[in-house]
Amino acid sequence: SKSKSASTSEKSENKSTSQSDSKESEKWSINKGDSVPFYLVGRPVYANEDLEVMDKHTNEVFCKVAVATKSDMETAIHEVSTTGARKMAALPHYVRKEILMNVAREARRRSEELAMMTTIENGKAISDARGEVERLVQTFEIAAEETVRMYGEAGDMDIAKRAHGYQGIVKRFPRGPVSMISPFNFPLNLLASKVAPAIAAGCPFVVKPASRTPLGSLLVGEILANDPNMPKEGFSVLPCTRESGDALTTDDRFKLLSFTGSASVGWELKAKASKKHVVLELGGNAACVVDDLDEGLDTVVQSITTGAFYQSGQSCISVQRLFVHESIYSRFKDAFVEKVKSLKMGDPKEEDTFLGPVISEKDADRITEWIKEATDKGANLLTGGNKQGTNFVEATVLENVSHDCTIYNEELFGPAVCLEPYSDFASIVDEVNNSRYGLQAGVFTNNLSKAHYAFENMHCGGVVINNVPSYRIDSQPYGGVKDSGLGREGVRYAIEDMTEMRIMLMKEPGKL
Ligand code: SIN
Repeated sequence: SKSKSASTSEKSENKSTSQSDSKESEKWSINKGDSVPFYLVGRPVYANEDLEVMDKHTNEVFCKVAVATKSDMETAIHEVSTTGARKMAALPHYVRKEILMNVAREARRRSEELAMMTTIENGKAISDARGEVERLVQTFEIAAEETVRMYGEAGDMDIAKRAHGYQGIVKRFPRGPVSMISPFNFPLNLLASKVAPAIAAGCPFVVKPASRTPLGSLLVGEILANDPNMPKEGFSVLPCTRESGDALTTDDRFKLLSFTGSASVGWELKAKASKKHVVLELGGNAACVVDDLDEGLDTVVQSITTGAFYQSGQSCISVQRLFVHESIYSRFKDAFVEKVKSLKMGDPKEEDTFLGPVISEKDADRITEWIKEATDKGANLLTGGNKQGTNFVEATVLENVSHDCTIYNEELFGPAVCLEPYSDFASIVDEVNNSRYGLQAGVFTNNLSKAHYAFENMHCGGVVINNVPSYRIDSQPYGGVKDSGLGREGVRYAIEDMTEMRIMLMKEPGKL
């Protein structure tokens, strides 16, 4: 591609002529109408082909982003698999820590810019976007802490006569170049879940952000590109077509593919990934069981409203199936439906907006079609159900949805919940498991035996007691079973995936 490198100062000069709305945004790196570079081998590159990033609320073009070609991708792969791999592996752990802390510091300093870009490109409410920035900061901080705590093992190996006198030292070494494909729903935090552990582990990486939301990744790319400690050959951030991005899956110079996205795409990529290690964070139709209201009706209703409707339900662990014990069902239902009706839908940049648009008109149509299928098959529509404008969907509660409906079985990724009563705890745990997915489940109970029963018997990657399945702490192991994925993210667990054990066997090391 015909490309030119741009220094940060060139970019700053552009800012004064941008169509920014406020004084605050004049200090920002990306403004309305800008052309935004990708980061190839750690340097900004303005290329010819432009990807239009839409403001998901106004549905106007916000800015244009350079798109990497196959040849850019080849350059990126060549660098990470040669000089980048060597330089990243050789980085002392205190330098890796400093790089990670620098991202955390810069992201905190620029938090309002990162949050507003996320709201613009994704459509999520500004309060959700601010929460996401905070999670990105914490993920980089956790990775910085882990970096200086990477220990090995040492021990006697003389388990039989033939191994007499042997000792072993086991250390973990960087696995090598990591390819990353990140989704639209958390443009910052799900990128952080991949990039921060890679830096901690000493792995170079090439990341393809979601085409609809590349800005968060590019801002992190900019922060890394401006850090003299970060080897330029160690990373590229490349928005690109599927065709150019194919090598992220198929090229054997990558030693690990880390993908977050839909189940259909994820399993297809795994089949093409050849020899590389693969981590898949895929979808779900998360269930939440409310067995008692010991936490308080208002608290439970508030948690579930947030878990089901924040960022318009576009989370893999959004509450989609909601089972409430029959003894508390009608109290819960009345309070829940009233709360859901009170949620403000509208401009996600406004402070009091709860529900922004969903990512596209196509998705808004799909979500409302799935709701209609449920009502056609006899579900009660307790509130919501309609599309508004181009890509808004009302917060929707459905009751007694037939279990053969798409909205019950497939990942909705939208603002709707299927509510139903139950009588027996063990049977409802079976119903939670009646899904091809298994990412996280939530159980509201203060009964210790039931909490442990759920933990022992729910087929998923995580069970959250007294909160929603949508609750995630970024240091926890996070990932699913069944069609929901393979492997775990969460900083420490991702570092494990990004490193490999190596043993040094020593014959009679202390023998004089
Ligand atoms: C996801 O959608 O898988 C991520 C959820 C989260 O990080 O909160």
